[in-house]
Amino acid sequence: MSKNYSEEELYQFPFRDKSLELEERVKDLLSRLTLEEKFKLCSGRLMWHTKPIKRLGVKPFTMYDGPHGVRPDTMGEIKSTYFPSAICRAATWDPELSHEFGKAVAEEVRDVGAHMLLAPGINIQRTPMNGRTFEYQTEDPHLNKILAVATVKGIQSQKIAACVKHFVCNNQETNRFTVSSEVSERALQEIYLPAFKATVQEADAWSFMTCYNKVNGIYGSENYNLLRERLMEQWGFRGFTVSDWNATANTSTGSCVTAGLSLEMPTAKKYNKRNMKKAFQEGKFTEDSLNDNIKRLLRVMFLVGLFDDKNTLPSGNRNTLEHQSIARKIAENGIVLLKNKDALLPLNIDKLKKLAIVGPNANLKFGGGDMLAGGGSSVNYPPYEITPLEGLKQKCRDRVEIIETPSKADVTILFAGLNHEHGMDAEGEDRNKFELPLEQIELIKRTVKQNPNTIVILINGSPIAMSDWIDSVPSVIEAWYGGMEVGNAIANVLFGDVNPSGKLPLTFPKKLSDSPAHNSERSFPGVEERVFYDEGIYVGYRYFDKEQIDPLFPFGYGLSYTTFNYENLKLDKEKFTKNDTVTVSLDIVNSGNRSGMEIIQLYIQDIKSSIDRPPKELKQFKKVKLEPNERKTVELTLNFDDFSFYDDSTHSWVVEPGTFNILLGSSSRDIHLQKEIEYFE
Ligand code: BGC
Repeated sequence: MSKNYSEEELYQFPFRDKSLELEERVKDLLSRLTLEEKFKLCSGRLMWHTKPIKRLGVKPFTMYDGPHGVRPDTMGEIKSTYFPSAICRAATWDPELSHEFGKAVAEEVRDVGAHMLLAPGINIQRTPMNGRTFEYQTEDPHLNKILAVATVKGIQSQKIAACVKHFVCNNQETNRFTVSSEVSERALQEIYLPAFKATVQEADAWSFMTCYNKVNGIYGSENYNLLRERLMEQWGFRGFTVSDWNATANTSTGSCVTAGLSLEMPTAKKYNKRNMKKAFQEGKFTEDSLNDNIKRLLRVMFLVGLFDDKNTLPSGNRNTLEHQSIARKIAENGIVLLKNKDALLPLNIDKLKKLAIVGPNANLKFGGGDMLAGGGSSVNYPPYEITPLEGLKQKCRDRVEIIETPSKADVTILFAGLNHEHGMDAEGEDRNKFELPLEQIELIKRTVKQNPNTIVILINGSPIAMSDWIDSVPSVIEAWYGGMEVGNAIANVLFGDVNPSGKLPLTFPKKLSDSPAHNSERSFPGVEERVFYDEGIYVGYRYFDKEQIDPLFPFGYGLSYTTFNYENLKLDKEKFTKNDTVTVSLDIVNSGNRSGMEIIQLYIQDIKSSIDRPPKELKQFKKVKLEPNERKTVELTLNFDDFSFYDDSTHSWVVEPGTFNILLGSSSRDIHLQKEIEYFE
């Protein structure tokens, strides 16, 4: 029997000595664990916790969902800030807001006594039909990377672990427990892995969650190549991996340990004592592998302060005005103005008399228990939620009459979209159709006939078809699932207190068959439990550009109440070589009469290449705020890597000598300036 220690005795151990190096403390604690205790630490209990090792004072490590706010396991008794969905945050294209979100949500995690947030979810939006598109950020690897890094840094600034998920190619919900994502090495390198890798190398992510699916035939939780070789050896990850909840179901104990899966959640199955003992005795894994897995978990326990006096840790807080204002700011900045014929928007509150508000999403709440089934693991319970109707009532109070009859109103606002019900942006199943529900399409058509000044506002988390109705509607807004302050954010945008500046983080196709994953059944949803990523690197706009298909709205698109001019593009050199950086500068001018923000996008095009490359790829962007008539010079820096592609034959990143085009635009399809530059070796 191993000895139980008193608190005084424990204090004498090196691992409790805060003045020692982290690695020394980890090593010391590891050396005191028996084999059985190590087995015990490898799996969870009670859904969200690790098991304590009482005799050594190792408390349970607690982790909670999720990407839009923390949800402790109290059936809604404990409230927390409901932030906008990840796709909305991504539409802000603002890493600072992602950082603010990360910091705020981590304060809430600390406040509820947990140590890790099961977020961010950064799977690439390969298809609009993925039930979890709303929970992920974007179709583009560069935007994904910038926002993921900022979010992880924000979370971990509070000594709370981020858990980057779901590693990797968990791009659909259909057959999510069994499907194998069949993906080329080049697509992995160029599209699916970069953001994950950057969270390790640029943000020191403390945890990764493995995916439910297989990747090229091997489950994420026992994928030696993904976990041990790439994540740990090649990228230098020092954190620990945790299985998605029950993702180990079809795996084997030995291969999970050997692959580097530290923690099986939510309870011990493959990692229960009997299986661990047996696999160990049969030589299915080595003690070295096990020790490495445990070491990683212990390291993060130290990093989050599990052994420290609470008073020495960042103080948590929850449901503060500051957090609510961050939620509102993200919602306001993420709203995308898709169409605004004859400048119907913004509405003038002094001129408007009657405003009709209709549509199924006008007064729906998305936080809390009502939507638990569909919102899935990303749901949390906010103390309040301002619906669009409530936000507009508040804004219009005593000034504009709110009615329900479009024909009697000056302007009608129609709230359409999806709602996290089955097949409509829900975890566990993909969307059941690309169009809006039929009754909503009919409602839009009917309403526009009754009142041509109808503005459609979409509340949803993934692209939908609009061809049936968009031509008859003067203004359309994409407002996403905007969190607990969504109603105020929408009202502020409609009445011009906030000038919309969000841009689409993914392509909106006209029809589903235009979308790269929807060429055949084998590419979505797959056949015989395999889904073939036949489009390779041509995900999102890379595909639409290559095939010259006009999307409904392109990647990077979004209107403003003002206009911007792009002028005076300059490169600091005409030629560059490997160790050079290239500084791109341009002037951006607000040529309208309202202050506003523009997101300047820089794409690169390889004019001639020995292998097929996308017509353009986003490599930099910057959001700038400009007063009317203001001019600002913006600088963007590129380096060698920004020009490279992954060469399958040499397994390396390559830049070929020759000419590149640097494209500057307000969307992937609105390029305003371009200049060539030459690379030489
Ligand atoms: C989801 C994860 C989530 C976990 C815990 C799983 O079903 O895929 O994203 O963090 O459950 O709730």
